[in-house]
This record gives sequence, structure tokens and C-alpha cells, in this order.
Amino acid sequence: MERSIYTLGIETSCDETAIAILRNETDILANIVYSQAGLHAKYGGVVPEIASRNHLRKLPYLVKEGLEHAKIKFSDLSLVAATYGPGLVGPLLVGLSAAKGIACGSGAAFLGVNHLEGHIFSHRLAYPTVKPPFLVLIVSGGHTSLVEVKRYGEYQPIGATRDDAAGEVLDKVGKMLGLDYPAGKEIDKLAIAGDQSTIRFPRPMLGDTGFDFSFSGLKTATAYYLRENPTFKVEDVAASFLAAVIDVLVDKTLKAARRYKLTQIAVVGGVAANSLLRRRLTAHGKRFGIQPFFPPLDLCTDNGAMIAATAVFRYIHLNEQHDPSLEPAPSLEF
Ligand code: KG4
Ligand code: ZN
Repeated sequence: MERSIYTLGIETSCDETAIAILRNETDILANIVYSQAGLHAKYGGVVPEIASRNHLRKLPYLVKEGLEHAKIKFSDLSLVAATYGPGLVGPLLVGLSAAKGIACGSGAAFLGVNHLEGHIFSHRLAYPTVKPPFLVLIVSGGHTSLVEVKRYGEYQPIGATRDDAAGEVLDKVGKMLGLDYPAGKEIDKLAIAGDQSTIRFPRPMLGDTGFDFSFSGLKTATAYYLRENPTFKVEDVAASFLAAVIDVLVDKTLKAARRYKLTQIAVVGGVAANSLLRRRLTAHGKRFGIQPFFPPLDLCTDNGAMIAATAVFRYIHLNEQHDPSLEPAPSLEF
């Protein structure tokens, strides 16, 4: 019998301190996330220094807990991986330094992972039998991109946001509505209780033939509405605003799938948790024979398992590992 490959994956690009232990390519033995969201809530967004300091405080304990949970020792690890970009430089430095140290001390290989590719691999973890080619909608607090996965490791960027990410605009409008950061989940809930036909917000770039997104105009339109209508009903604003965001995401994604003749769509990133996006993309996709896949919630949001899964794929199939001098790349793209 072939020896198992154990990978430790570390994710610290933003405000989630996350680790996972993977056996071979898709078998998750431990997947632990410590969310710092509560620490940043009163500032209305992530404070990089607070994030860095708390990654430094929590990470060693999460690694220890993960190894115990997986019932393995440092010396069993073949590979140690961490996100090296995109993200906040201080938080990235914490995870990268830890990964390099553990790899060096345990004799394992070291690999830096692109966080965006990581989100794509959350789909592979959830649906190991769904094979490329497929379209990916990466929709999170930091990113809104459409990418064709020709095969794992080979990507064709199709479109991206020109300003705010979808999650970012949800969080910013949430702040205007007096909601805690991050506000996406709460807007999701409020919208269910509201009437989306109350306010007709713009659907930016909907008529455009390209596949880029733009959400900052919608944010401004919402700010004007709130200023001019101080007695607004929060549920109705949430429902009307969310409907505008989701209409654009669904329309562009399905157009891209049809243009590139792809019948499978992987939706990944924190906003993939959104119930309206799930309902609409599934219903509208059906008309064109297009099937969307949504990973379970713990794999949608930032996690270490997707980082470990990306790393072990690149290590085994692309024969890749990184030199310990690898630096963080805050603006890394595909
Ligand atoms: O992928 P993620 O954990 O971190 C980034 O890489 O950004 O995504 C976080 C984003 C936040 O903007 C949050 O408001 C949003 O995902 N989010 C949601 C929901 N749950 C989280 N947005 C809409 N509906 C949800 N249910
Ligand atoms: Zn992310």
C-alpha cells in the first residue's frame, strides 16, 4: 500500500486564522478556523495590525490542535503550505513564516499558495468527482472574478470587478444600515423578511457585453437613498440592494458560461453562502442546462483545507515546491 501524504495548510491572508490537515488530495482530517471578525467589528473593517497580532497569538495553538485532531505528528507531514497572496502583508507574513519554520523543523516540503486558486480547490474538496472544464465565480470580501478552469492548474481569467468586490459592497452597505462587520450574512437574513420591489437600485454593467463587474455605483446609489429616505425600512433596503447585486452576479455568470460553452459552475468564496444567489443561479441555470455547485459553508469562507488541497495538487501533479525565501505577494493575481 502506498504511503499517505499529509499536508498542513495555513491561511492568514485576512481576518481568519485557519489551519487544516489533509490526507492525500481530498481527505480532510482537521479543518479549524478562528474568526477574528468580532475583534474588527467595532472598526467596521479589518485593521491590519490587529489581524497580524492575533494570527501570531492563535496560530501555534490551532496547529497543535489540528495535529492532535488528525492524530499525526510534525514528523508525519510531507508538505507545509501557506497562502502567500493576495492579502494583507502583515497577516500573510505570519502564516508564511510559521509554514517555513514548521517545514524546516519537520523536514517537510514548503509551498506558497495563491489564495484565489485556494478558493477554486474548495470546490474540488466538496465535489471531487466533478471534473474540469468548468467556470468559477469567486465571490468574496476581497474578490469578484470569473475564471475558466481548463484543468486544475490551468486557468483563464474571464472578468473581474473594476472597483469593490461583491462582499465588500455588502459589508459597506451593511455599515450604512448600522449592521456589524461582516454584514453579508445579516443582509441575507434581513432580505428574506423584506420586499425587493420597494426600491429599484441600478444593476451596474448589466447591459455591457463584457464580463467585468462594478459595484461602487450601487453603493453610492444606496447611500443617496438612505440620506433622502431617513425613515427607510431596513429589511426592504436590504432586499432591494441584495437583489441588485445578485441580479448582476447571476446574469454575468450565466452569460460567461454560455459564451465559453461551460455547463458547470463552481461558486466559491464567502458570498457563495448567500441564499438568494444559490436559489437564483440554480433556477436560472436550469433553463440553459447549466448546473452550479456550491461548497458547504465551512469551505465557502476562508479556510486552511483549500490551501492544503491546492498545495498537495501542485506538489504531486506539477512537481512544485517553493524555496524558503518566498515573499508575500499582497497583490497576487492569477
Ligand atoms: O471568502 P471570505 O471568507 O473572505 C475573503 O476572502 O474575502 O468572504 C467573506 C465575505 C464577507 O464580505 C461577508 O460579508 C460575505 O463573505 N458573506 C456573505 C454571506 N456570508 C458571508 N455574503 C452574503 N451572504 C452570506 N450569507
Ligand atoms: Zn477568501
